[in-house]
Amino acid sequence: MSIREKTFSLIKPDAVSKQLSGAINNRIETHGLQIIAQKMLWLDQYCARMFYAVHKDRPFFGELCDFLCSGPVIAQVLRGENAVQKYRNLMGATKPEEWADGTLRKEFGEDLCKNAVHGSDSSENAALEISLFFSGFEVFDC
Ligand code: RTP
Ligand code: MG
Repeated sequence: MSIREKTFSLIKPDAVSKQLSGAINNRIETHGLQIIAQKMLWLDQYCARMFYAVHKDRPFFGELCDFLCSGPVIAQVLRGENAVQKYRNLMGATKPEEWADGTLRKEFGEDLCKNAVHGSDSSENAALEISLFFSGFEVFDC
């Protein structure tokens, strides 16, 4: 575990449209994670399908990609000690019935689909996801 581990975060269209990015960033930063890259963009189907390719055979894949393309998102790189697991803990579980108090999904999410945030589930996937969204010069890892 590195004290400078990186993870990838996406503030999803539901949270961006509700103007919750400031509140979410505040929670990220007070949780001991540093935002070292950030940009707003509107994904198309090609990008959404590539991003969630791991789920391409799941029945909810189409709905998931449609949702991700439904409005602007904010892509971020977060850095800190044990960043991948730390952010997953802050985000909350996948299933709404398991969202714990104090998690971002409990506070800002609506349902299984409109769940406010994505976070990488491993350091390897974090590196992959960061490389999809950011060039080296855009990540202030110094
Ligand atoms: P994410 O990738 O967005 O951070 O979410 P996650 O790790 O908690 O969950 P994951 O299993 O990777 O699923 C990705 C997104 O797909 C939707 N989902 N629907 N209908 C279903 O059973 C189902 N399961 C997952 C969720 O919106 C989840 O965020
Ligand atoms: Mg996931």
